[in-house]
Amino acid sequence: MLNEDFVKEIEASMIYVRNAFIMPKCDPSRVTEAISIYEMRHMNWLAELIVKRGGKPSMEHKALDFGGDDLNGQLEKQIALETEAIERYKRHIELIDDAEVVGVLRHILDEEKRHRKEFRIRLEKLQK
Ligand SMILES: [Fe+2]
Ligand SMILES: [Fe+2]
Repeated sequence: MLNEDFVKEIEASMIYVRNAFIMPKCDPSRVTEAISIYEMRHMNWLAELIVKRGGKPSMEHKALDFGGDDLNGQLEKQIALETEAIERYKRHIELIDDAEVVGVLRHILDEEKRHRKEFRIRLEKLQK
């Protein structure tokens, strides 16, 4: 489960880094760049938990879907990724019986909720 979370964080980090470069508008680009760094921190936290329990972090990520070449599609994709992450972390918190892991996953879950809010604000601004 931790490795599944780890790989998803790799995918999110890479998608956000790439999109931040492509985005034509300054504000969403900066927000996306800043959030990509949060996702990398999530990778670090998860990798530590994995290694501490005798595992090895998996680097086998899937082909990346960036949400296309326009800002609207990219923000929608990023919101969908955060929603997926929120649902996955909620599920894993329910299933995992390890206080340290659950503590870290709860912290990550809170940050993913904030990310989704940040991306939603940018998408709403576009639609005005
Ligand atoms: Fe994350
Ligand atoms: Fe996130």
